[in-house]
Amino acid sequence: MSLQKETKKYGAMDPSAVDHFIGTNRELWNDSVFRQKGVGIFKKTESILMLFDSENPFSYVPTFNSRCSGLFELIIPTLSTIESWENIGGFWSRVIAANLLPRSTIPIHTDKGFHLTYSKRFHWVIKSNPGVVSIVGNEKLYFAPGEIWQINNRQSHSIENNSDDNRIHIIADFTVDQGPGMDFPAEFEPGSDDYKYFQLRARLSGRMVNRYL
Ligand SMILES: [Fe+2]
Repeated sequence: MSLQKETKKYGAMDPSAVDHFIGTNRELWNDSVFRQKGVGIFKKTESILMLFDSENPFSYVPTFNSRCSGLFELIIPTLSTIESWENIGGFWSRVIAANLLPRSTIPIHTDKGFHLTYSKRFHWVIKSNPGVVSIVGNEKLYFAPGEIWQINNRQSHSIENNSDDNRIHIIADFTVDQGPGMDFPAEFEPGSDDYKYFQLRARLSGRMVNRYL
């Protein structure tokens, strides 16, 4: 199985319950500053790290933050819906809420790292407006509230929030199960130590996430 990434709209789910929960629990944004402090391009963002490994930025090993369980529960139906659309084996390896602050930019970049190479990245738009412009590859896109998109993060991308409002997305990475014929870079050839490590951690991760889904 190869991991095909593409930028496309999958559908929509009502974001109002999540929007309301985040709006009335603003302290969740203060729970972790790892992303905005540790990764320069995210300086103008806030994040809520629900399923994340802040020890290792290249991790594909989900660590669930139980302080965010109230919010995570509201997101589960959307994750389940995406899984039913995808119909491929795998596990959720990262789920965060990300706020791009008013009049702020995430500069052009390409997502790198083992985790992202083997994951499909989905965006569920919780709060946005036409003043927010996302550029993926050569395409200028507007992601409207409620819409669920997959983003091909191997292409360069950037986001401008030209509005006076927050832009809030749920960003969820689905790591695809490795199977026969899946394309691995040379250092992750089946049989190599890295590959064995990946298999082990993927199995452990699958069990961990299943406890919450
Ligand atoms: Fe990115």
